Amino acid sequence: MAVRGSCFPRQRQVLFLFLFGGLCLAGSEFGPYSVTEETERGSFVANLAKDLGLEVEALAAKRTRVVSDDNKQHLLLDFHTGNLLTNEKLDREKLCGSTEPCILYFQILMDNPFQIYRAELRIVDINDHSPSFQKKEMILKIPENTAVGTAFRLERALDSDGGPNGIQNYTISPNSVFHIAIHDNDEGVIYPELVLDKPLNWEEQQEFSLTLTAFDGGSPPRSGAATIQILVMDINDNAPRFPQELYQTQAAENSPIGFPIVKVSAEDVDSDVNAEVSYSFFDASEDIRATFQINPFSGEIVLKALLDYETVKTYKLNIQAVDGGGLSARCTVLVHVLDINDNAPELIISSLVNEVVENAPETVLAVFRINDRDSGENGKTVCYIQENLPFSLRPSVDNFYILMTEGALDRESRAEYNITISVTDLGTPRLTTQHTITVQVSDVNDNSPAFTQTSYTLFVQENNSPALHIGTISATDSDSGSNAHITYSLLPTHDPQLALSSLISINADNGQLFALRALDYEALQTFEFRVGATDQGSPALSSQALVRVLVLDANDNAPFVLYPLQNASAPCTELLPRAAEPGYLVTKVVAVDRDSGQNAWLSFQLLKATEPGLFTVWAHNGEVRTSRLLSERDAPKHRLLLLVKDNGDPPRSASVTLHVLVVDGFSQPYLPLPEVARDSVQDEDKLTLYLVIALASVSSLFLLSVLLFVGVRLCRRARATALRGCSVPEGHFPGHLVDVSSMGTLSQSYQYEVCLRGGSIDTNDFKFLKPIYPDIHAHGSQINSDEKPTF
Ligand SMILES: *[C@@H]1O[C@H](CO)[C@@H](O)[C@H](O)[C@H]1NC(C)=O
Ligand SMILES: *[C@@H]1O[C@H](CO)[C@@H](O)[C@H](O)[C@H]1NC(C)=O
Ligand SMILES: *[C@@H]1O[C@H](CO)[C@@H](O)[C@H](O)[C@H]1NC(C)=O
Repeated sequence: MAVRGSCFPRQRQVLFLFLFGGLCLAGSEFGPYSVTEETERGSFVANLAKDLGLEVEALAAKRTRVVSDDNKQHLLLDFHTGNLLTNEKLDREKLCGSTEPCILYFQILMDNPFQIYRAELRIVDINDHSPSFQKKEMILKIPENTAVGTAFRLERALDSDGGPNGIQNYTISPNSVFHIAIHDNDEGVIYPELVLDKPLNWEEQQEFSLTLTAFDGGSPPRSGAATIQILVMDINDNAPRFPQELYQTQAAENSPIGFPIVKVSAEDVDSDVNAEVSYSFFDASEDIRATFQINPFSGEIVLKALLDYETVKTYKLNIQAVDGGGLSARCTVLVHVLDINDNAPELIISSLVNEVVENAPETVLAVFRINDRDSGENGKTVCYIQENLPFSLRPSVDNFYILMTEGALDRESRAEYNITISVTDLGTPRLTTQHTITVQVSDVNDNSPAFTQTSYTLFVQENNSPALHIGTISATDSDSGSNAHITYSLLPTHDPQLALSSLISINADNGQLFALRALDYEALQTFEFRVGATDQGSPALSSQALVRVLVLDANDNAPFVLYPLQNASAPCTELLPRAAEPGYLVTKVVAVDRDSGQNAWLSFQLLKATEPGLFTVWAHNGEVRTSRLLSERDAPKHRLLLLVKDNGDPPRSASVTLHVLVVDGFSQPYLPLPEVARDSVQDEDKLTLYLVIALASVSSLFLLSVLLFVGVRLCRRARATALRGCSVPEGHFPGHLVDVSSMGTLSQSYQYEVCLRGGSIDTNDFKFLKPIYPDIHAHGSQINSDEKPTF
């Protein structure tokens, strides 16, 4: 934001006063100290620690600096003693010229908190320069008829020392004709006049040679001398005359060399040589002679060097016009130098911080001073920095400015600022100086690591090789350096069943997750745990994410046959009535597979049979049925070899051996059902028996109905008892296997069957219940035609 010289918002002013409260109460001036010029480097000036009321160590701790107004290091602070020493031989004449007293202004800057003290150092003059005359020989032409008592102005001597060490007196070598009179001019400068004591006579003595000596007021006094050649001239009646005694003129400081300043001219009413006027500077300093040039014939004054308003604002030129007869006249030309805005403002950095901690409150970044050597509007400055930066400029004493942060910064949004300080003066044309400060914002651990996802799901095929890389988690941290160096870890689980450390390991550096041992889908299908990411900041920050591992099934389990049991010592034998119709359900093979999905889809296949073509196996449900009527020729004993195969890749299988015994005299319950009987009696072989069979059928039907009714009642009760009371014997019905495989649930009717058959109930008792089966079979086959993948 732009801060204009004196007018800045009220709240800023309050803050400023608060900031520099110490300074304001302590008083702005310090000292004055004094030191004699030309003393050796390292001379004692003052004990700053004592004067500031601080311990010596505090000076270094507060980074105390001494800054001079002219930005030269005249003084030095000794941090061991707290003494302020001179850093060089100070030459009063070089520093102040003729200005007396000679005062050097400087500031004492301190940090923590930032403070400025003003101080001044007076440089005491010593008499180290002698008076000297610019012309070592002066020629004075005096007409012989000059009246006694006439005074001739002589050029004065110059002495760089000021005040009492400046020139105090003039003397002339002893003679009887002239003496020296001393006068003050209106500026307090003394000058000598040669006064004629006796009438001159050109015929008697045409020339005098005298010595003029100037003394300064030092102790002891120093002196300088020049000779005066006095030429006695023949008569010349009229002296030259300037029409005006004072010429005033102006010249801009950027005027070129040769620029005409003014033209003076004097008239002399004499004739010939006595009227020839020549012009020259009189009593002119080195500076005037170096800057201006006068044409001795025309009286035109031109510039010989460039003017500088900042060095000399007004020149006073004394011009003397001398005619050929030695008579002279003097006038004064005042040249006022006009200021031009030719100096750009200067920006002098006194203290600079290039790095600021991101969460620091208001912090001083730089202290600098602005200087514009021009005057008036040309020397007024406005100081500002770019807008939209979190920094502000605050004016302080003596054209000092303080650049501060406005509050905490955020390295993550911006880590580097280039602050351009611009200083513009109000002259025409405006001159601007810019200075760019680069400020680095250093990091603080204020950002936690952030996971790329809040939760991760990883899939692992079971039976994996140990130390398998199963996935990678990753987190980022927007801080920098060690504040962004992330370490990954497994967090303890809340599940006591899960031995996480033996299952999973994590690479702390890159977040790679490894399965430590082979996983078993049948034992553990899914598990989850939390991972943490911690940075190395102080204090460290961390965050968590959830990782879920899903174990994928592999076909690593062969089908297991539940019925008929394959390890029984007495192998199970199925009974088949010889009169069984084609499609008679001999038995049903029940198998499960501990895998899941496709790997647990089972299919059944008849591999080998004693009588091929007599039995068929339903591929999907394992039902073994007859495929034709049995004949007398069929063997009474049959051995079937079945293959149970799952649908995995590669498939796994198990084989089952079935023993079937064909029995005769078991016909009663298996008399053909009415509709079945009607169908079978369509054959026209035993026509004579038709009536007998019809009668028998009617009575049988009645008997069958009675039996059916009793059977249904009995069956319901038996089923209820079987389901409630029949605890499934271990090994005959391994319930947990069915639970594991989602597809392997046994339908209630088969559970019933397995339970009855696996139990110790006598086969014959059981067979008594057979007549109810057609219902169940019909029901079962309906289901089987709909849902294909059972077991
Ligand atoms: C200047 O010197 C002369 C001769 O020594 C002396 O008489 C006179 O008093 C001095 N003038 C001043 C102002 O000291
Ligand atoms: C700051 O200035 C430097 C040097 O000119 C430059 O390399 C850097 O990119 C600048 N930074 C910004 C934030 O502008
Ligand atoms: C048959 O195998 C099952 C399951 O492996 C087992 O539980 C049962 O005890 C075995 N029976 C015999 C008689 O070996």
